[in-house]
Amino acid sequence: MDINHTDLEKLLKEDLDSCNKEHDLLQIKSKYLGKKGYLTSLFTSLKNIDPDKRKTFGAELNSIKNTLSSMIEIKLISLRSSNEVPEKIDLDVPARHHNNGSHHPISLIIKKIENIFLEYGFDIHDGPEIETEHYNFESLNIAKNHPARDMHDTFYFDSQLLLRTHTSSVQIHAMETSNAPFRVLAPGRVYRCDSDPTHSPMFHQIEGLCVDTDITFSNLKWILNNFIKEFFNSKSIKTRFRPSYFPFTEPSAEMDIMFNGKWLEVLGCGMVHPNVLKNVNLNPKKYSGFAFGLGIERFAMLAYQIKDLRIFFENDINFLEQFKNIR
Ligand code: DAH
Repeated sequence: MDINHTDLEKLLKEDLDSCNKEHDLLQIKSKYLGKKGYLTSLFTSLKNIDPDKRKTFGAELNSIKNTLSSMIEIKLISLRSSNEVPEKIDLDVPARHHNNGSHHPISLIIKKIENIFLEYGFDIHDGPEIETEHYNFESLNIAKNHPARDMHDTFYFDSQLLLRTHTSSVQIHAMETSNAPFRVLAPGRVYRCDSDPTHSPMFHQIEGLCVDTDITFSNLKWILNNFIKEFFNSKSIKTRFRPSYFPFTEPSAEMDIMFNGKWLEVLGCGMVHPNVLKNVNLNPKKYSGFAFGLGIERFAMLAYQIKDLRIFFENDINFLEQFKNIR
């Protein structure tokens, strides 16, 4: 038996040249490669061949089969591409509706407060949420057995690592990594073992710190009074400072605002304790400063009249959609 390679290729080429429909191409394919096609009958006849030559013949047949298959494949591609209908663009079709998301109310409040303090020359700082006892407590003048540690309901990983209970730790990072004077604003997540309508185990705070050579309590009062006026967009809003206690400030105070006829506590503040300055190698005889810390949820609840803070973290689409057009 002799297979003439070029003959089969030639035959197929003629068939393909005269073919211009996909349906006809299928018939050509079966004529050559189908069950009753040329090649199949050649493969069947292999068994009658002298076993010595069978291997070579088999290989030759396979190579012919590959050539013919790829010729058919190429023809198929060319038929399909020439039959393609050019894409039509209808400019009158209404655009698909895109449902835009909204900023989370907590993000909106952070942005709003940041923008106010950026105007006062503060820089935005960041710090780790997993902290050491040193940054969360000791460097802030909260010693090992200090009763203030109990107030913090801390989540501990081990005896050293914990989830920060306040953003005050960023004061220390900021003062360690840059040079005085400082005007630091540090928003971020904080954690405490606490959960009820006004407390969540994770919530947000903003820390403020201003350290320079001549900072006094008047600077603190001026900045915070102006901040409250800008935030609530009211020049006449009443504020007051009450004496308080925080280990990292001396003197310390709490700031209240008059809201719907009642005094409401909104933040803690005070003059940076000399020990805190010493802990970051600043001379308290040369430098002084003020600091404050506020809960962002509290400000968001006041700004948007929300009673239960847990709604901030439930991802309820109906709640979140209300903030769509607020930038
Ligand atoms: N770290 C305090 C807290 O979480 C808030 C605070 C109070 C921050 C007074 C301050 C401050 O910087 O001066 O309750």
